[in-house]
Amino acid sequence: MPLQIFIIMKLDLNDPCWCGSGKKYKKCHRTFDMETEKYRREGYIILPQKILKNAHDIEGIKAAGVITRGILDMMAGEVKEGMSTQKIDDLVYEYTKDHGGIPATLNYHGYPKSCCTSINEVVCHGIPSADRFLKHGDIVNIDITTILHGYFADSSRMYCIGDVSDEAKQLVDVSQQCLQVGIDQVKPYTRLNNIGDAIDTYANRFGYSIVRDLCGHGIGKEFHEDPEVVHYAQPKKKGVLMVPGMVFTIEPMVNQGTYKCNFLKDGWTVETQDKKLSAQWEHTLVVTESGYEILT
Ligand code: MF3
Ligand code: CO
Ligand code: CO
Repeated sequence: MPLQIFIIMKLDLNDPCWCGSGKKYKKCHRTFDMETEKYRREGYIILPQKILKNAHDIEGIKAAGVITRGILDMMAGEVKEGMSTQKIDDLVYEYTKDHGGIPATLNYHGYPKSCCTSINEVVCHGIPSADRFLKHGDIVNIDITTILHGYFADSSRMYCIGDVSDEAKQLVDVSQQCLQVGIDQVKPYTRLNNIGDAIDTYANRFGYSIVRDLCGHGIGKEFHEDPEVVHYAQPKKKGVLMVPGMVFTIEPMVNQGTYKCNFLKDGWTVETQDKKLSAQWEHTLVVTESGYEILT
């Protein structure tokens, strides 16, 4: 019976808190547990305590994020017409190793490279290749996840190769704004689904659509954890409650045309069904007592 389980697991007020802070329960997460119990009764999903990160974890993720960000900054000066996407991957691998990290995608469920390079109609998970070259007018997403001392940080940005069309530039800009609009919704004790509601509404103003087949995700001690962060609108769903210590990515994939995707036979590459352009920006962030902090 759920009630009994709750009572058995309840900590004594002077016990060390379940979060690993070393503080007494009554001085740490007791108020939090009482508060979230109220929301649970109202119909929100309260995810298990084990997904929450403590101050030590946050520092670890942030340190991994310094490498991820360093790579994305470096790429702004590196990507150019004629460069192979394999060259991008080589730079990611070297930079990560030089800074003591591990590229998280390498050998992840068999993924063969150190980053994803997704060009034009590729929505995500494009595989770097020695015979794919960046062309004038391309838009490319570079997606980097770094592991440092067991902690993961995931971020991606768009890069324009030479002069891109006005349409492509607008998609790149609006997709970046979509990420920001989503981030603006991150606040403790509110609906996680506010993020997708806001992003979808914003993208639709420009006639764009939001990919539904792929989501943001919890992250920290593993690459992909709970919660699942959808980027499209689900205004009727209460769903998961955001609480301090939750760490997740927001990474909306914004399409010029249909949101529908094709999954290619290489097992990874995802493309738009109508072959129109797609763009994506991503950050890893933590829910704080007052709002959020970006960790990448
Ligand atoms: N970095 C991607 C994400 O944002 C995941 C890439 S997994 C890979 O979640 F295996 F395709 F590289
Ligand atoms: Co990513
Ligand atoms: Co991600």
